[in-house]
Amino acid sequence: MKNLISQLLADAVDRLKADGVLPTDIAPSIQVENARDKAHGDFASNLAMMLAKPAGMKPRDLAEKLITALPAHQAVASVNIAGPGFINFFQDAGWLASQLEAALADPQLNVRADVAAQRVVVDYSSPNLAKEMHVGHLRSTIIGDAVARVLEALGHTVIRQNHVGDWGTQFGMLLAYMEEHSVDAEAELGDLENFYRQAKKRFDESEDFANRARQRVVDLQAGEPSCLALWERFNSISLGHCQAVYDRLGVSLSPADVRGESAYNADLPGIVADLRSAGLLTESEGAQCVFLEQFKNAEGNPLPVIVQKAGGGYLYATTDLAAMRYRQAELQANRVLYFVDQRQALHFQQVFAVARKAGFVSADMQLEHMGFGTMNGADGKPFKTRDGGTVKLADLLDEAEQRALRLVEEKNPELPADELRSIGSAVGIGAVKYADLSKHRSSDYSFNFDLMLSFEGNTAPYMMYAYTRVASVFRKLERSMTQLDDLAPLALVEPAETELGAHLAQFNATLNYVAREGTPHVLCTYLYELAGRFSSFYEQCPILAADSEAQRDSRLRLAALTGRTLKQGLNLLGINTLERM
Ligand code: ARG
Repeated sequence: MKNLISQLLADAVDRLKADGVLPTDIAPSIQVENARDKAHGDFASNLAMMLAKPAGMKPRDLAEKLITALPAHQAVASVNIAGPGFINFFQDAGWLASQLEAALADPQLNVRADVAAQRVVVDYSSPNLAKEMHVGHLRSTIIGDAVARVLEALGHTVIRQNHVGDWGTQFGMLLAYMEEHSVDAEAELGDLENFYRQAKKRFDESEDFANRARQRVVDLQAGEPSCLALWERFNSISLGHCQAVYDRLGVSLSPADVRGESAYNADLPGIVADLRSAGLLTESEGAQCVFLEQFKNAEGNPLPVIVQKAGGGYLYATTDLAAMRYRQAELQANRVLYFVDQRQALHFQQVFAVARKAGFVSADMQLEHMGFGTMNGADGKPFKTRDGGTVKLADLLDEAEQRALRLVEEKNPELPADELRSIGSAVGIGAVKYADLSKHRSSDYSFNFDLMLSFEGNTAPYMMYAYTRVASVFRKLERSMTQLDDLAPLALVEPAETELGAHLAQFNATLNYVAREGTPHVLCTYLYELAGRFSSFYEQCPILAADSEAQRDSRLRLAALTGRTLKQGLNLLGINTLERM
């Protein structure tokens, strides 16, 4: 609706320019907001106030002219002027109802992209395989997954890329340790965190071991077969750990999405050679670097992007350049989204700029670093175990499930044990995911079990419960939310119905916003507000005790669309809904 109104206003501006009322050299950015006072309109724009000065007119006079020039549209019932010159729009209830009917008639709720469909690479999760997945990987994994799902729902082609760190010097240490402990290595690898710690300890305490570790790095790079085999075994075990976490989290990543750093090894000499022939390379202290004007440190000295070390080794940046070229040339992407910690912002600005300058990607390729802040402990300090270690994701999820199970047991002592367990697990996992997704991704946040497991506020339990409330209406009637053909049509009469309906109609715009900005919290807020409006509607507009059959049917349709929107919205966030809890 806001887009539509902006378009209508833009048309009106063009008309007034043609009529000589407005100067032709203005290009206003048109803002349309939800009106604060619904008695005066559903939407409002301050356009007349913004343009009054360049037009040399009083805001209210200009508003009048704009309204006269506004093309008619069936979605708009009426337009008026309020206050110093706001233009207020009333939405047409019949048109709104027809939009909602169209959503109801489609299993996917009629959502679609408001831009041409794209091929989008989503680079997310991407842990380093040398260590066990820990809490630091949670944000990338679940925020990236939610955005990937939203893009897909809108009709874009999504290519998931799990750019795991499966290469680098720390592998020498791990391989040397695997050799030394050949008998129990398999068993010890069950606990990767500990395995890494032991290997590091050996490395630090024994010069002999450290030398062997360094030799293994050389062997690995030379492609020595027994060393490669060991490396492959290590990675496959580590990837198995990751996949187990993805499966538990309900994250839509599979082994087929893994394309780790090592996949680009063969391309790296070519990347450096191409940078050289493009005249972009400078040697500095033996290393091959690209210096770009726009990157300077605090003292104003140029910052290099190092692509090859003095010893010949390649770097994180070199691999990312190769990956960008692959994503453009092989995957034919129009857009690549990187869900990676904000602290890597400079890295991405630099490699994006180098890739463009070197022509590794075309000018119209959209490269976007979707950075995120840090997840801290409940006390706001870095998230650590009691003895100061990193918290394993698997342990965190165990605790979430146990806590949730205790809560749902208290609430529903009558439910059978196996159902309680599956509810507990859905609520526990859902709570961890929702708590993260509902925060703006660029802010830091404190991980707090008590808050995220509360049944009040913008939490997973509240949202999941809101869905079950709608589901229970239909269960009582022994009806599904999808079979509505025998019901009378939807009509928006009472204010609570119109408010609910207007919000429901914004689902598509919300998803498009999330797809554009990579911000799942906007969908969380939308769903939370939806649940709130449904509550008011449910209190003020009895469904089963409606005045007439037609009224009851219309309200049932609204309830069905609410239930289905909640379910689809939560599913797009990667959260499973329950029919009862
Ligand atoms: N493995 C990296 C890390 O753990 C993240 C990789 C992100 N993706 C990328 N294309 N650089 O920090």
